[in-house]
Amino acid sequence: MNEFEAGEWVLLTSQKGKKWLVRVEDAPYSSHLGGIQLGDIVGKQEGDWLITTKGAKLMLFRPTLQDYIFGMKRHTQIIYPKDLSAMVFWGDIYPGCTVLETGIGAGALALTILRALCGRGKLISVEKRAEFALGARDNIHRYFGGAPENHLIVAADIQDVALNCTVDRIFVDLPEPWHAAGCFARMLRMGGLLVSLSPNVGQVQLMYRELKANGFGDIVNFELLRRDWRIDQVRARPSDRMVAHTGFITVAKRVAAQGVDEPDDGEQEDQPGL
Ligand SMILES: C[S@@+](CC[C@H](N)C(=O)[O-])C[C@H]1O[C@@H](n2cnc3c(N)ncnc32)[C@H](O)[C@@H]1O
Repeated sequence: MNEFEAGEWVLLTSQKGKKWLVRVEDAPYSSHLGGIQLGDIVGKQEGDWLITTKGAKLMLFRPTLQDYIFGMKRHTQIIYPKDLSAMVFWGDIYPGCTVLETGIGAGALALTILRALCGRGKLISVEKRAEFALGARDNIHRYFGGAPENHLIVAADIQDVALNCTVDRIFVDLPEPWHAAGCFARMLRMGGLLVSLSPNVGQVQLMYRELKANGFGDIVNFELLRRDWRIDQVRARPSDRMVAHTGFITVAKRVAAQGVDEPDDGEQEDQPGL
């Protein structure tokens, strides 16, 4: 891999796994492990070390998207990696598809979708609060080193937005998503996928009812729990803490009217997820 250059992001990683996201520039940087000159990173490669003034070793890596997201400025709750990764996979994002997301918050989901689009297709992000839209835009520009050509941010309430085309995918992270179910039905092409994240199960049930009433079918609801393990020379056991409940994920498909008129008698198939 090529050498680090001035201006790029670097993830400093201590031997105990503590991480700092910094920019390569002509400036000092210090932490409890001692100081370094950030300019000394120029010319080094990923996996190389720098020794601090206190003799600690810091490994140098290019940040992953996850590192960047957790280091960026955020004014809203962002979506956790376990949910981000599942949402993009269940939402079946592919390079070239047209995606709508709402709201953008700090831009974590927008960044994840833009990376999966690989510069193709289009992402339209709709955010009600102008200051959040601007903050997310800054986070996204900082990550890509400029404005991605396939990204449009619209500062508006999703219920006031009308598109001049339908989209292939819709991603929803709103406090009251059910109010916009009718809008989503008008915006999403037949067979297109909608993925929604909600922290409370009451939100999930309201969303389910409105999706059913507005031309969506094949609806799946689930949550993901992440349990890390402590493995070393003597231990091999689950960690004391885990990232348990963060949110419920709903995945639904846009279907023709005759598919949604059947009475919902609670007799859904109870299938374990694949
Ligand atoms: C939890 S945050 C989204 C976080 C975002 N998914 C991320 O990954 O950083 C919810 C966002 O929805 C926005 N919002 C709430 N109601 C909205 C509406 N009706 N239309 C558009 N945006 C809305 C809020 O302003 C907020 O920024």
